[in-house]
Amino acid sequence: MAQRELTFRIMRFNPEEPKKKPVLQDFHLTEEPGMSLFIVLNKLREEQDPTLRFDFVCRASICGSCGMLVNGTPTLACKTLTKDLPEITTLLPLPVFKLLGDLSVDTGVWFRDISLRTESWIHTDEPFVPDAPEERMDNAVAQKIYEAERCIECGVCIGVCVVANLRPDFIGAAGANRVARFMIDPRDKRTEQEYFDVVGNDDGIFGCMGQMGCEDHCPVGIPLRDQLAYVRRKMAVAGWQYKKA
Ligand code: FES
Repeated sequence: MAQRELTFRIMRFNPEEPKKKPVLQDFHLTEEPGMSLFIVLNKLREEQDPTLRFDFVCRASICGSCGMLVNGTPTLACKTLTKDLPEITTLLPLPVFKLLGDLSVDTGVWFRDISLRTESWIHTDEPFVPDAPEERMDNAVAQKIYEAERCIECGVCIGVCVVANLRPDFIGAAGANRVARFMIDPRDKRTEQEYFDVVGNDDGIFGCMGQMGCEDHCPVGIPLRDQLAYVRRKMAVAGWQYKKA
């Protein structure tokens, strides 16, 4: 079968030169068997333009650093094969996050902010005893925590979210998933009222408009709809109790 000649239309922008407007630049490449966007972008940088900026670390859907818009759809570039793409592919950086240049965005700042806002650590009064034997946890509970912990923080669910695109402080599905993880954990002694004070508002769990693009596009298949519903139910009850008090 004849090899296809592919065109990659890539957004070029350097935030350090804000006077220069973003442009779409065309690059051309001959398709090879098993080619992923990881290979494409590295080839383009090595052979055509060493200034092209993008992020990859693991190339195996683990590190979460290669999220971008591929023909308008947020996804991981390392798991996207050219055989599934048309001859012309447009690559844009993920929206919502701070743009570092071309296709490279800073998801780290966003996720750190969410961690601090939702206090993503176990809250307990139990003293820390380093040589105490490990506590047993019910298997079903441990599985639920593990499910939430599978998030690779790629930002795809945030990039695809209508609310996150309109409201910069919205916690999004990744934030709700983080909150669910600690709500499930029996070692975390926070009350539901305490969670409500943090996420019981429109920038928190009540901002979700239920479009559910997050679950449709999550590259590791976390059931984000269930996580959002779980936190929302708990916060609705906590809000009701607040009102009565
Ligand atoms: S390079 Fe690590 S998830 Fe794509």
